[in-house]
Amino acid sequence: MTVAVLGGMIAPVSSREFVLSEMADKAASERGATDFHQPVLVQEMLDHLLPHDGGTYLDATVGEGGHALAILNASVPGGRVLGIDRDSRSLNRASERLSRFGSRFFSVQASYSHMAEVCQSRGISQIDGVVADLGFSSRQIEGEGYGFSFLRDEPLDMRYDQYQSLTAKDIVNGYDHEELASVIFRYGEEPRSRPIAREIIRSRPMNSTGELSQAVARAMGPSRRRINPATRTFQALRIAVNSELDHLVVGLSEAIDLLIPSGKLVVISYHSLEDRIVKERFGEEAAGCICPPKLPECICEHQPRVRNLTRKVVKPSWEEVAQNPRSRSARMRVAQRL
Ligand SMILES: C[S@@+](CC[C@H](N)C(=O)[O-])C[C@H]1O[C@@H](n2cnc3c(N)ncnc32)[C@H](O)[C@@H]1O
Repeated sequence: MTVAVLGGMIAPVSSREFVLSEMADKAASERGATDFHQPVLVQEMLDHLLPHDGGTYLDATVGEGGHALAILNASVPGGRVLGIDRDSRSLNRASERLSRFGSRFFSVQASYSHMAEVCQSRGISQIDGVVADLGFSSRQIEGEGYGFSFLRDEPLDMRYDQYQSLTAKDIVNGYDHEELASVIFRYGEEPRSRPIAREIIRSRPMNSTGELSQAVARAMGPSRRRINPATRTFQALRIAVNSELDHLVVGLSEAIDLLIPSGKLVVISYHSLEDRIVKERFGEEAAGCICPPKLPECICEHQPRVRNLTRKVVKPSWEEVAQNPRSRSARMRVAQRL
């Protein structure tokens, strides 16, 4: 038996498996395919999930497979991971990267809000643990073709799922002032949403991310802020295009439905809108009575379905932030099925 150290985690791995892992990484490196998205809070995720041989795990946002890889390595020889993602381009990379695990890893292109249906179609009725690492990967923000970034000039797309019809271009060119301002305010928490919406409408038709960020900069005027003035507007449009918060609400319920008793749901979020939803959902699911406080006695008969394991949200260590600055906004919450 050999011990493999994965991002600080020590997992027992058979010598043969360890050698195969090293060979696979070397081969990937020779193909120039090792510049994968760097997963965050991997050790903290494993500490809660405690993957084991024979377990079935669902990575609801498998991306490029970083968290899935850690779970597969920690659940040798027989743990399985079902990886879901809306983005088929990321799924292809994850599938290639994890192909050495054979049938222990399998993937489906879908939204995690459909995870119950996906599991049912695969004959899976119960899951030992679910991980959801929300938002986007570094490849999606830095790579070509997604239109998520104001640092690139490319078509106004912003879809995770290329088969979805709604794009950022439709919203930017089609919404009226009220609708645009509301999206930018609600999903970007941008106080200057109204002047931004006005300037977008004045600058129509708009086709590219460059045109959008220039319109936002004109609406904002000179600023000494460290963050790019278009940051919040881009976040808002991405959330609106992909209905991210609606999918999250449904996905959290479905995940809890699928978990075995004592199974864990680990969610990593990157902004306050997501984290608020996760916190509130876990709070509601962990509560006994949910009657209005004014009622003299309980009439709801609500039963708690989970125990909240992270009353205090888990944040990355300063070492992790120093090594991967993108991790600084990550917040992890964990619930355990009762
Ligand atoms: C932060 S990345 C995950 C990175 C992954 N943990 C890794 O180690 O490579 C988030 C992923 O969630 C995916 N995603 C966003 N919304 C989704 C949804 N509703 N259902 C499934 N995947 C989604 C994105 O396409 C992206 O690949």
